[in-house]
Amino acid sequence: MTAHDAVEVILAKRNGGTLTDSQIDWVIDAYTRGDVADEQMSALAMAILLNGMQRAEISRWTAAMIASGERMDFSSLSRPTADKHSTGGVGDKITLPLAPVVAACGVAVPQLSGRGLGHTGGTLDKLESIPGWRAALSNDELLAQLESIGAVICAAGDGLAPADKKLYALRDVTGTVEAIPLIASSIMSKKIAEGTGALVLDVKVGSGAFMKDVDDARELAEVMVGLGTDAGVRTVALLTDMSTPLGLTAGNAIEVAESLDVLAGGGPADVVELTVALAREMLTAAGRDDVDPAETLTDGTAMDVWRAMVRAQDGDPDAALPTARESHVVTAPATGVLTRLDAMAVGMAAWRLGAGRARKEDPVQAGAGVVWHARPGDPVTAGEPLFTLLTDEPTRFERAFASLEGGYDVGSADEVAAQPLIIDRIGG
Ligand code: URA
Repeated sequence: MTAHDAVEVILAKRNGGTLTDSQIDWVIDAYTRGDVADEQMSALAMAILLNGMQRAEISRWTAAMIASGERMDFSSLSRPTADKHSTGGVGDKITLPLAPVVAACGVAVPQLSGRGLGHTGGTLDKLESIPGWRAALSNDELLAQLESIGAVICAAGDGLAPADKKLYALRDVTGTVEAIPLIASSIMSKKIAEGTGALVLDVKVGSGAFMKDVDDARELAEVMVGLGTDAGVRTVALLTDMSTPLGLTAGNAIEVAESLDVLAGGGPADVVELTVALAREMLTAAGRDDVDPAETLTDGTAMDVWRAMVRAQDGDPDAALPTARESHVVTAPATGVLTRLDAMAVGMAAWRLGAGRARKEDPVQAGAGVVWHARPGDPVTAGEPLFTLLTDEPTRFERAFASLEGGYDVGSADEVAAQPLIIDRIGG
């Protein structure tokens, strides 16, 4: 590998230039090894945020991050693989019912997930509320479970794209998370290294998402679909609404409970709609568009996979889920229709109640979170419960109330903004 100088690479991007393949390969490798310092990489990340990257640069950057670690190989499995990645939202528990649904249709789902940071929840935090459940699996355990059960949700090992692990932690504390080239390469380096055959991206748009604006979300989706396709992964993206939180719960154990309702054939209509839509995309991308994923929710086969998946990772699917020690009800201020429920307000309230963490070392409370008793368009009655706030520490209620203030409106039915859940589809 040709050696470069970190300052030369920073200046090239600072001055609005295009980085060469050789500069990109070197800077990622040298940063992973510790030869490029954090302050130099932060300056480069900021130059990328301000000046952008060409598609070819993003592609090379992604390849260099993949090359920093191991690549998994699922070719020995007897069934095709498909994975889903969501860019993160409030009440987004879709992975929990989705993985068993797709596995019940004959496609294996290797879902390597993360923990939540900030107002969006993490899939592993939710599953860890199940007594005994274990997030860490060896690669051999992961492969064996994929073959025997067809679905695994577990922690991504340290071996996958270590350059991204280091860079993401740095971006988090240097105001450089929201750069489309950096988000796209971060997500896709991990997904391509994971070795899935097909990938469906759920790119969230709205107040509770990274991308507040539909044009930015579309650009992010197009870049990620391009990266996946170029790497030989059949990739499609759905742009989905995150101005309103998903379902009726945001937290950990309460989101597991809602997912169980969906797996039992019930649950909120929007969670069912998105689960089935993403399942159809995953199955089509994996070459199995002959099966109907919706049936697995009513015939019990998705629930059977869920129970096997939880048991295989030492969880007890029959154990009672933890509950918060304290609860507080917020009532509707007027009679009418709930016309707006803001995802960011609900996400911040759940976070402040203890469902999420401020620093990555912080613990989360399994029972904490927010339950809302109406969705936009539903009737509400003055004085009747609108939200139930849950936490182990009552001192947290006040700041959670403050987050919800201004986050919802009660009015008349004609004031409800009609917003489709699935806004657009890209790729495929
Ligand atoms: N998720 C990731 O994995 N990386 C990002 O950069 C943003 C969200």
